[in-house]
Amino acid sequence: MNFQKAKPIVTNSRSNVRPRMYYSLPILRLACLIAFFVGVLAIESGCATNLFSDVFKKQDTRLTKGPFLLGVYPDRAALMWETDTEGPCKLYYGEDGRLDKYVESVAQSIQSGEEAVKKLFFIHKVWLEDLEPGRFYDYHVTGPGFEGNIYRFRTVPVKTDEVRFIVYGDSRTRPSVHSKLVKQMKKQKIDFVVHCGDLVTKGEKYEQWGAQFFEPLKGLAESVPVYIAKGNHEGDTGNYEKLLVSKGRKNSFGFDYGPVRYFCADNVSEGLDDEVQLHLIIADAEASDAKWKFVSYHVPSLNFAGHWSAWGYPDALPGLSKAGVDFVLAGHSHIYERFRPIAPPGGSDGSYVTYITTGGGGVYMHEIVPNVYHAVAMKKHHFCLFNIKGNKLTMDTIGIGGRVIDHIEVIKNAGRLDRKYLRLAIPMKQILDFQQMNLYRQD
Ligand SMILES: [Fe+2]
Repeated sequence: MNFQKAKPIVTNSRSNVRPRMYYSLPILRLACLIAFFVGVLAIESGCATNLFSDVFKKQDTRLTKGPFLLGVYPDRAALMWETDTEGPCKLYYGEDGRLDKYVESVAQSIQSGEEAVKKLFFIHKVWLEDLEPGRFYDYHVTGPGFEGNIYRFRTVPVKTDEVRFIVYGDSRTRPSVHSKLVKQMKKQKIDFVVHCGDLVTKGEKYEQWGAQFFEPLKGLAESVPVYIAKGNHEGDTGNYEKLLVSKGRKNSFGFDYGPVRYFCADNVSEGLDDEVQLHLIIADAEASDAKWKFVSYHVPSLNFAGHWSAWGYPDALPGLSKAGVDFVLAGHSHIYERFRPIAPPGGSDGSYVTYITTGGGGVYMHEIVPNVYHAVAMKKHHFCLFNIKGNKLTMDTIGIGGRVIDHIEVIKNAGRLDRKYLRLAIPMKQILDFQQMNLYRQD
């Protein structure tokens, strides 16, 4: 057999090109038509959001962070979210499933990534005003080419003597651990969360905020406000403030929920005067007649492991007791450490304050050796769940697998904690002396 005979003859002559074009054009048209219909079908069926929507819907906006509740009060709520285009967004909201009101957002641009691969994102923040106390509101965010999921939150009731909330801190660096803890948090029916700071490894690296903080809190922060006491890892480049401080609010702020007054203070930002911050905290507690007074700030005033922090030494302990504070929860050292209640200084009528270091929200843990001042001390990831009904307070500290690793019950009558709880109290002078001996220690 002669194969040479079957080989097509290729020449550069015009007479050969014309017939080939004539046959290939209809095939090309048919291929384009098929590609177009396949693309349309794929988009309609939702299975080609990346490939074809990128080609055909280039102007669409993506919701890249949030929505995230920055604060909920009896008559208003603050929310934020982030998009990848500047396009205007609206947040529709209303009671009983009706999304009959809306607010428009004005985006603030922010740069993510190094200069060579920088990308712009847009942060949106809004206040929902004129809400009714104790009611459920549904809402969703819309923008060019997208309509977000519908979420629900509840405004703070005016008259209630019950509240349930979670306090934790130091969730930075290991989002897989943070996510596991949030999974346990979602099983609890809570009214709010307080985070004691250190949300990301390096606050100046904008790309870390999504992976380490917003992603793990998905499914919780859309429905429950997360109040934050800023940590040192948030940095001073302004990323924390742009993302997580609602318009008109400062880094240090207080709020009320039923029988609780809670004050979150910034004790880490560059340029802050510790004395001024401590005075702010004390003044807020003194001005409140709430049954239970809570304070959170990042660097602890009492901490006997890790960083051995003694923020506000020696004024914080007597000042907070004089102001009637009941619980102080901080982070910074990566441990769980609950102190025995600290008695007010000799003979004064201040409060017995319980200090807790709750620095186990995800980051690697510090070693801790319990001493006589600790009620409980351990190296375990955890969060603290408070349940308050009038005079009765319970706290369950919950580990990563959902097991309760610490538990307290305290009753308060006529402003005084029950004797059973105070049996373990330690004199303030004793603990101040011990702090003084260890002021420059770090493990
Ligand atoms: Fe820290």
